[in-house]
Amino acid sequence: MHRPILIIGACGQIGTELTMELRERYGNEKVIASDIREGGDTLMGSGPFELLDATNYAAIEDVVMHYEIDEIYLMAAMLSATAEKFPMRAWNLNMNSLFNVLNLAKESKISKIFWPSSIAVFGPNTPKENTPQNTIMEPSTVYGISKQSGERWCEYYFKKYGVDVRSVRYPGLISWKTMPGGGTTDYAVEIYHEALQKGQYECFLDKGTKLPMMYMDDAIRATIDLMESPSEKIKVRSSYNLASMSFTPEEIAESIQKHIPDFTISYAPDFRQQIADSWPSSIDDSAAKEQWRWEPKFNLDQTTLEMLNNLKK
Ligand SMILES: NC(=O)c1ccc[n+]([C@@H]2O[C@H](COP(=O)([O-])OP(=O)(O)OC[C@H]3O[C@@H](n4cnc5c(N)ncnc54)[C@H](O)[C@@H]3O)[C@@H](O)[C@H]2O)c1
Repeated sequence: MHRPILIIGACGQIGTELTMELRERYGNEKVIASDIREGGDTLMGSGPFELLDATNYAAIEDVVMHYEIDEIYLMAAMLSATAEKFPMRAWNLNMNSLFNVLNLAKESKISKIFWPSSIAVFGPNTPKENTPQNTIMEPSTVYGISKQSGERWCEYYFKKYGVDVRSVRYPGLISWKTMPGGGTTDYAVEIYHEALQKGQYECFLDKGTKLPMMYMDDAIRATIDLMESPSEKIKVRSSYNLASMSFTPEEIAESIQKHIPDFTISYAPDFRQQIADSWPSSIDDSAAKEQWRWEPKFNLDQTTLEMLNNLKK
């Protein structure tokens, strides 16, 4: 029997699907969803929910004690595009929420943590193609700086205090159940919605901007596989590179045109172009593949099929 799990930031793009998958595997009552706002009907109706602010240590501790929580998945954060508009708020949320869960584990109140990092930890001086696990990291966004600092603190808490914290650097995630929350790769979700609704899409990134992306099912499976792996297999305690596909806006448009031949894309790059230009184009995830047998399942055309079929319903 699995001990209770708390998800913080459960109503967001990843949290919603992660909560439902964990409830499916371990039982609805074992997975406590929490957020500063209520989520969709399916999530809210399927199990326990707590209104919880990730920056409030005492409030998290109360929930942990009440439900005898053993593991926390911390999904609350301010994402890349929004963080550029509110740098200090982003730093406060992204760092303090992480310290709160790391300190709960340090004090033995929980035994395992999942905290997501991002390809935003890399920067303009990082090798762009097949970006290695260990390489130059000089993030130039507030979000990237917070994720890189977070990675350093995770490794520090593991080495110094034995905190069992696990992490992956998610690429841009594509899903149909919940809209994305203010990232630079949001276009790769919006484009499917608008292809079906309007038959055209104006992209906020320019032609030729190749970024690493992943279908949500792969990301959720990676997350839970990492959390279920024996501790001794997890050699990287900062965060694992994780990859499945990389594409440009014109390539995703071509993939959509196989199903909607009249679909057109135009380009109007905004401030998010600069963020995208500082990120890698493709990622070397061999450490994750070797150490805990990560393997992606969805390529671009399979993702397009899933997105269009489900959004049409
Ligand atoms: N979605 C992606 O493409 C992507 C890529 C790389 C990394 N990540 C990381 O994965 C994690 C989850 O991302 P997401 O896309 O689901 O984000 P999201 O913005 O969709 O969801 C974040 C959730 O956190 C909640 N939240 C905000 N402030 C809070 C607070 N103070 N207390 C409690 N909850 C709060 C929001 O209400 C929201 O439901 C983040 O750490 C993000 O940086 C996401």
